[in-house]
Amino acid sequence: MKNILVTGGMGFIGSHTCIALIEAGFNVIILDNLCNSDISTLSRIESITGHSPAFYFADLNHKHTIEAVFEQQEIHAVIHFAALKAVGESVEKPINYYQNNLLGTLNLCQVMQEFAVFNLVFSSSATVYGDKNAIPYQEDMPLSATSPYGQSKVMIEQMLQDLYVSEPSWNISLLRYFNPIGAHPSGLLGEDPKGIPNNLMPYIAQVATGQRDTLGVYGDDYQTPDGTGIRDYIHVVDLADGHLKALAQLECQKTTSIDAYNLGAGHGYSVLDVIKTFEQASQQKIPYQHLPRRAGDIAEFYADASKAKIVLNWQVERNLLQMCEDSWRWQQQLKKEQPR
Ligand code: NAD
Ligand code: WQD
Repeated sequence: MKNILVTGGMGFIGSHTCIALIEAGFNVIILDNLCNSDISTLSRIESITGHSPAFYFADLNHKHTIEAVFEQQEIHAVIHFAALKAVGESVEKPINYYQNNLLGTLNLCQVMQEFAVFNLVFSSSATVYGDKNAIPYQEDMPLSATSPYGQSKVMIEQMLQDLYVSEPSWNISLLRYFNPIGAHPSGLLGEDPKGIPNNLMPYIAQVATGQRDTLGVYGDDYQTPDGTGIRDYIHVVDLADGHLKALAQLECQKTTSIDAYNLGAGHGYSVLDVIKTFEQASQQKIPYQHLPRRAGDIAEFYADASKAKIVLNWQVERNLLQMCEDSWRWQQQLKKEQPR
């Protein structure tokens, strides 16, 4: 059984990917410092899969703790999710973001090189397309950033490109996620943001359960059919599956490479579409009010997802209604567990 190290494996996307890896027969080893996740995720993964992954409570900022994992486990490949990800917070605390995301990745790559582990799948983001490119976004477009968070992803992608040039044993997939939402269909695992949610889906879900009164819809005057922002939402289980496909591609190709892939549906939905669909899924009314545009938002973006389809043999399988139904099932479960 191949050992896959999953950094940030206790987080939203990482935990769903751990499930997909276990179900595909891999041995999963999680490294996480729990700065944005909870230890209960481990038992949730076990309830769903029947397996409890090895867990290292470790911080990528401390190289020796990463080394300890590589000394104890024979790692075949690394899927690197661990990062801070809140765009607004990154503007307020840029040093934290550069330190955690850049230094964490540098330490990880150094240790991987020391132990001659060169297969890496990296969590990048559609945010690397900045705000100047035309839609749909294609992988060969110029990259830029509108926040320190986004800049950390652009810089890491560049750093990994340089690493590959220096040592062609590296074999790297850069996965640029669009807007991941949804939850595991069991209702046992999903996103549980700390504090007030920044993102649309967890906010809607908390309004639906009555934990929040009203959703603020940022902007009603964009050049879009209903005036609200359009995004390419992708079910987290489809996204998890994309990591398995990327891993398989790294292994089956004849030569090593570094390649970027958009993981998105290839089309978008507006904020009002998401509200309507969530109402359908939950049979709850979602009260909302229009607010001014949120600083830094753009009107519309979605992926050109054709490269992932052709090269990785991956495409989304789940639609917006399934994303809303699964988010709703999870949010109800959370409310039962943590009545507020
Ligand atoms: P998340 O916050 O739920 O998960 C990240 C995990 O990494 C958390 O469990 C956290 O505790 C851990 N972590 C952070 N810094 C660490 C460190 N220094 N050492 C060890 N563990 C650390 O986030 P997510 O939504 O699952 O995102 C996973 C990855 O995908 C991130 O790299 C994020 O930037 C990227 N991404 C996320 C989205 C999104 O909308 N969720 C979109 C595009 C890209
Ligand atoms: C979606 C739409 C909002 C909240 C962010 C990051 C991006 C990536 C994914 C990591 C927009 C609107 C939102 C609310 C609203 N993460 N909205 N009311 O901003 O597209 O992407 O997550 O890489 O980098 O920026 O996602 O869910 O915040 O917003 O009206 O309370 O919903 O204006 O149109 P976003 P989001």
